[in-house]
Amino acid sequence: MRTQVGIVGAGPAGLLLSHLLHLRGIDSVVLEARSREYVEQRVRAGVLEQGTVDLLNEAGVGDRMRAEGLPHHGIELRYGGAGHRIAFERLVPGRAITVYGQQEVVKDLIARRLADGGRILFDVPDVALHSLEKDPYLTFQGERLDCDVIAGCDGFHGVSRPSIPEGVLSVFQRDYPFAWLGILARVPPSSEELIYSRGDRGFALHSMRSPEISRFYLQVPPDASLDDWPDERIWAELRARLETVPGFALAEGPIISRDLSAMRSFVAEPMRHGNLYLAGDAAHIVPPTGAKGLNLAVADVRLLTAALAEFYATGSTGLLDTYSASCLKRVWRAQHFSWWMTTLLHTLDDDDPYGRRLQTSHLDYVTSSEAAATTLAENYVGLPFDFGDHP
Ligand code: APR
Ligand code: PHB
Repeated sequence: MRTQVGIVGAGPAGLLLSHLLHLRGIDSVVLEARSREYVEQRVRAGVLEQGTVDLLNEAGVGDRMRAEGLPHHGIELRYGGAGHRIAFERLVPGRAITVYGQQEVVKDLIARRLADGGRILFDVPDVALHSLEKDPYLTFQGERLDCDVIAGCDGFHGVSRPSIPEGVLSVFQRDYPFAWLGILARVPPSSEELIYSRGDRGFALHSMRSPEISRFYLQVPPDASLDDWPDERIWAELRARLETVPGFALAEGPIISRDLSAMRSFVAEPMRHGNLYLAGDAAHIVPPTGAKGLNLAVADVRLLTAALAEFYATGSTGLLDTYSASCLKRVWRAQHFSWWMTTLLHTLDDDDPYGRRLQTSHLDYVTSSEAAATTLAENYVGLPFDFGDHP
């Protein structure tokens, strides 16, 4: 088999790349370890930046997102017994976020690729990458796929990044002493907007998926097990952490899904080795507090598409050569923002009253200074795609 771009992984990065390349007349094949059902049902984050929404619309895959996604024009920071709204419409006029589950984006992209005759091979767990320096190819289940370039879009635990010879990549990372327990519940959201709540018992997040489905997260110990968290305990803890302002009552309903996620910051540099280009979680991870993971993957893939389109149109490798450096400017901005949101809102070590004071002081600043609130809002709704370009 032969294609122009061999894509490993059918997450948002791999699928969107395949679709955007198709729009430019570039052929690709996507190889995915798991089943279609698995990738479509996997519950992940759900905040789309303005730029992500615009790109999905321009690429013709935004119909259901426009119909079912929930535009939000602010978020609430809740701490010290009060709620403080970060008002996007005032701080960053014209920019907002859309709450739309990542797996819905994945479903829309798969449907569109298949309708356009795209090749996505599911259930191929044994993909291997070969000859990255010259004439690269992929093997799986006794087959061989020759390609001009390989796009490693297979997430943090994928095979692409480990295929790069040792010593080539520089890795930067930070682990956090907590994890997130996430649930979906069949109950209308208790507030119209997302609530990031910081309290003595730990962080909690109120989010949603639709007018009927709420999404919640709790900061839990890093070694927590779902078995430790029966429904009553989850609701009791969510009430204790969210019902901290007068008049707010949390609506409860049946829990329909639950998951645990580790909190990690990670960057591998550069995002290219030979003819292998990494995109999305394969190259970088952020803790979910800033809601940046999916949006970073989209930004990577947008640049990779432009670079490959230039290459196939003119033979120039100019944009391919700058791909990694261009991506990393945004990646590191999002790394800082995500680390900052995380350390601002989570309960840290009990023995660190100094750190606690710093958190409170900074939260007070963000909620009382227009300039500080604007910084948060600008990063939260997403920096423009040309961020970091110097004229
Ligand atoms: N071979 C083929 N596919 C693989 C392999 C492998 N060895 N390993 C992993 N995969 C697949 C996974 O099953 C998954 O479907 O690659 C896909 C990677 O998808 P994601 O993990 O969703 O990563 P990405 O597409 O980069 O999406 C960005 O950022 O913060 C997150 O929640 C956000 O998942 C989102 C991500
Ligand atoms: C979500 O709705 O899943 C969500 C929202 C905001 C975050 C992370 C996850 O920061």
